[in-house]
Amino acid sequence: MKVIPHSRQSIDSADIQAVAEVLKSDIITQGDLLLRFEKALAKYCGSKYAVCVSSATAGLHLGCLCAGLRKGKEAITSPITFLATANAALYTGADVVFADIDYETADIDPAQIEKKITKKTGAILPVHFGGLPCDMPRISAMAKAKGIAVIEDASHALGAAYKCKGRWIKVGSCKHSDMTVLSFHVLKNITTGEGGAVTTNSRDMYEKLRALRSHGVYKGPDIKKRYGPWYYEMRHIGFNYRITDFQCALGLSQLGKADRFLREKRAVAAIYDKAFEGIKGVATPVFARDKRYAFHLYVLRIDFDKIRMDRRDLMNSLARRGIMTQVHYIPVYRQPYYKKRYSYSARNFPESEAYYKRALSIPLYNGISKKDAYRVVEALKALLGA
Ligand SMILES: Cc1ncc(COP(=O)(O)O)c(C=O)c1O
Repeated sequence: MKVIPHSRQSIDSADIQAVAEVLKSDIITQGDLLLRFEKALAKYCGSKYAVCVSSATAGLHLGCLCAGLRKGKEAITSPITFLATANAALYTGADVVFADIDYETADIDPAQIEKKITKKTGAILPVHFGGLPCDMPRISAMAKAKGIAVIEDASHALGAAYKCKGRWIKVGSCKHSDMTVLSFHVLKNITTGEGGAVTTNSRDMYEKLRALRSHGVYKGPDIKKRYGPWYYEMRHIGFNYRITDFQCALGLSQLGKADRFLREKRAVAAIYDKAFEGIKGVATPVFARDKRYAFHLYVLRIDFDKIRMDRRDLMNSLARRGIMTQVHYIPVYRQPYYKKRYSYSARNFPESEAYYKRALSIPLYNGISKKDAYRVVEALKALLGA
């Protein structure tokens, strides 16, 4: 029996050849491919600059540092995200404050953000959950009025867009933020194995991000010309968050297929929408007309009380039929570390709790076939008695 994973990568012979060519060349890290991939990403997203790093986690960390987060500051983010979004803010010494989501979209609710803003708030990190853009115009207006930085976590959202004043705005263009972070982890919309990027329209942030990626070192042609060809200068404490050129070759090759990947996943999502519509106790995800979804995840909301089935049993039964599912995500405030550090009460996050109780991600990934999607539908419908 062929197993249908909940997610996986799609790598073709052109991707393999692109990587092999770099591996056969003289420079395999931080060379021409890095610059080409960064340029192509900025063009695709509509930003002035892109800085590639070793992961989105690294990008979020650098973004938080560039936004000035440090001890005594607070970062507001969604509890329905991967741990990395919140952890990155903690790395800077700042504290994390969670704002509840909107149940329908699973995106952070701007009204809840507003309630959590204090004098200490240094940054807001909206997460475009599953690839559905947050209400960026509203979040940006709120942040601008109070001088707070906005860092979009677009780990799920390469290729997503939203409408603002009649115009489509691409996620990553930073029209309503200071920086946007992308992930190229193996299960994301495009992959470099591990990897990520930060896009921005600010020259200062671009230069600082580049320096922080590599130990806080500045060594541009102006510095070398002034002091000599050997010279470099460490102005900040930085990291080794570099990505290799062979990863960038894979990224560049994958980026050329990003829109096709989205189209294919959209077609599978449409199959799911139709198949699960109207089934008692099951709700399909909401895709608003003024938002272009990036189809990283397809999350059903299942009322397990109503269907009289346990989520664990349903997942195990599907797995026995070769169909793997996941839950995105356990609210971050429920994690032992966060519980101990902040003693949040789940009662303060009714929407996140309601969402978490019902969420089930069914298979959606680059290269998923319609045939496999119908197998998912058949198995799930049979188990739901529909
Ligand atoms: C919303 C979100 N943010 C951040 C990350 C971290 O990405 P990376 O694995 O590239 O560090 C992930 C990865 O799963 C994610 O889903």
